[in-house]
Amino acid sequence: MMIHVLFFVLHFLSTHLCLKVEGTQTILKKDLELERQLRLINKPPLKSIYTKFGDIIDCIDIYKQPSLDHPLLKDHKLQRKPNFHNVIGESSEKNLGIKSMFELSKDECPKGTVPIFRTTKDDLIREQSMLNDHILIKDLPGVHLAEISLRPSYAPFYGVAGINSIYNPRVDSKFQISMTHVWVEKGTVESNNKISLGWHVAPGIYGDYDSHFYTSWTTDNYNKTGCYNIRCPGFVQTSKKIYLGQRITNTSICGGQTIDSFLAISQDTKSKNWWIIINNKFIGYFPAKLFSNMSTADHVGWGGRTKTRPSTDSPQMGSGHLPNDTACYFRQMWFKDPSAVARGPKSNQVYPLVDKPTCYDIKNYGDKGGHNGYYFEFGGPGGSCGD
Ligand SMILES: *[C@@H]1O[C@H](CO)[C@@H](O)[C@H](O)[C@H]1NC(C)=O
Ligand SMILES: *[C@@H]1O[C@H](CO)[C@@H](O)[C@H](O)[C@H]1NC(C)=O
Ligand SMILES: *[C@@H]1O[C@H](CO)[C@@H](O)[C@H](O)[C@H]1NC(C)=O
Ligand SMILES: *[C@@H]1O[C@H](CO)[C@@H](O)[C@H](O)[C@H]1NC(C)=O
Repeated sequence: MMIHVLFFVLHFLSTHLCLKVEGTQTILKKDLELERQLRLINKPPLKSIYTKFGDIIDCIDIYKQPSLDHPLLKDHKLQRKPNFHNVIGESSEKNLGIKSMFELSKDECPKGTVPIFRTTKDDLIREQSMLNDHILIKDLPGVHLAEISLRPSYAPFYGVAGINSIYNPRVDSKFQISMTHVWVEKGTVESNNKISLGWHVAPGIYGDYDSHFYTSWTTDNYNKTGCYNIRCPGFVQTSKKIYLGQRITNTSICGGQTIDSFLAISQDTKSKNWWIIINNKFIGYFPAKLFSNMSTADHVGWGGRTKTRPSTDSPQMGSGHLPNDTACYFRQMWFKDPSAVARGPKSNQVYPLVDKPTCYDIKNYGDKGGHNGYYFEFGGPGGSCGD
């Protein structure tokens, strides 16, 4: 009996020790792979800027930025400026919260370099665990939305824009995201091409609960492609001041200050590259070559989304309140029509996408004129919203 037990114990120990050794090797291999990826992403900086929030921004030679590693961009000719002027519905930039948000304004990157948010090993690990259930995929359990989209019968579209108020909605865990965005897309479901630009609270990406500017793109409905910001090669940065993933330090307060920001995705009709514009500044672009099917867009829109794990409560969206004349808004909305002319939508050209109106809703005010232009509110408290 004793011998039996001893044998069992030895057997048990040996199999578990083996497993443990194997486990360590796998971890080591994964670690080396992460180190390899980090070396590819984080290029040697000419200067590094440390923000007071502990973020590290590397100033990278504009011709050596990580996006140019993409196999489709081998012979890419960098476009430093778009062939079009910016269009903004508001002459004054006073109300756009630019100064408050941009920590680099005093300490920008030297000439010929661009700011790139340094990626850490933890960032990579967090992002890997998120890629398989992307918030921008339609009909994923735990994802809810309150958006307005242009009817595809008015396509093709060459751009989308709006001034969006920025909040810091409450998010309870690293498995949740709350975001707002403008987007352009084209393609069938499996091969959907999409660019999304906005701000989000996404602790699973940044490891904090602040709001951050982001973009994201895909060419296969977030199946194999679908990174945020510069985590996979694609976005070509041209701005010296504003970078993707940037933390937004001053946000709107219900009943207090409103901070809003102009967001646009606009195609350069000559180069066909899709430019990203934040607060009337060109940040950079997604080269036309990246996409399998987006010479033009057949869907564009505005609004918000949230994500939580299935069968758990959903986080807040926007200001955390349902539309009531003071909630999170888009104003001065426009799109670029088939002649690539920027114009505000007409009420009959748009339709709402809301899947759980008790959690998040939309109120479409139409064209209010003046300071607001085409205006709608969206968002809500979340809570028990189902899958
Ligand atoms: C941003 O927030 C800080 C801290 O709350 C405040 O001191 C500062 O005045 C704000 N800046 C603007 C432009 O609102
Ligand atoms: C591109 O997208 C359009 C619109 O969804 C679709 O009809 C077409 O088949 C797509 N083409 C390719 C090559 O995937
Ligand atoms: C993802 O792509 C693979 C082929 O690369 C395909 O087999 C799979 O069905 C795709 N998944 C989705 C959800 O489209
Ligand atoms: C909208 O909701 C917010 C938050 O509950 C509240 O402070 C505000 O007074 C409401 N506005 C209106 C017009 O009801």
